[in-house]
Amino acid sequence: MAQINPSILSADFARLAEEARAVDGADWLHVDVMDNHFVPNLTLGVPVVEALSKATGTPLDCHLMIEAPDRWAPQYVEAGAGSVTFHAEAAAAPVRLAREIRAKGARASMALKPATPIEPWEDLLPELDMLLVMTVEPGFGGQAFLDIMLPKIRRTRQLIDKHGLQMWLQVDGGVSADTIERCAEAGADVFVAGSAVYGADDPAAAVRALRTQAGEAAARGAHAH
Ligand code: DX5
Ligand code: ZN
Repeated sequence: MAQINPSILSADFARLAEEARAVDGADWLHVDVMDNHFVPNLTLGVPVVEALSKATGTPLDCHLMIEAPDRWAPQYVEAGAGSVTFHAEAAAAPVRLAREIRAKGARASMALKPATPIEPWEDLLPELDMLLVMTVEPGFGGQAFLDIMLPKIRRTRQLIDKHGLQMWLQVDGGVSADTIERCAEAGADVFVAGSAVYGADDPAAAVRALRTQAGEAAARGAHAH
């Protein structure tokens, strides 16, 4: 079942509670945390996540684009996040961190920037509930989807299946009506969409349309394998 996670990076930050309600029916709300060190942009932190989690019933999928996630990630679980994603490039002890996130009661997830290969992380996959393959360089919404990431999505799906894991495979960056089918056919099952949802006249309808499109493409992809 395809899940659609609207990214509030493309929402109006002065009206976050309302913007969360505008995508009622979304599976998760994707919250991009940027520290101006790991990426050249600065967004929000623990207090805003805490306030947002009280303001919406939709679970929060926090994507930490920050240095030292070992130090900060657990606080996002305490703030109410249902899933916390740290970057492979930034974590000092990813196994310990994933275990700590799970022990605190959230789903543990790890993200890979476009230039980071999946292969060195194969043995760690059982420690994770989700793997995020970035389909743009992290830092900004509204960038063009990187088609060159499709082979990595396919290879990641093969590794997950090879180990018989139930973990989710998320894509983030440039996902839209034009690109979501390619991602789903390649094996992604969780789709972050910022501008494609909040740039639409009816964000909730955009979520439903993307989910249907992804579901149909996934069925085609499964037949092709
Ligand atoms: C980019 C963020 C994304 C961003 C996606 O670094 O991680 O979550 O909000 O925005 P779109 O869907 O517009 O590319
Ligand atoms: Zn993100």
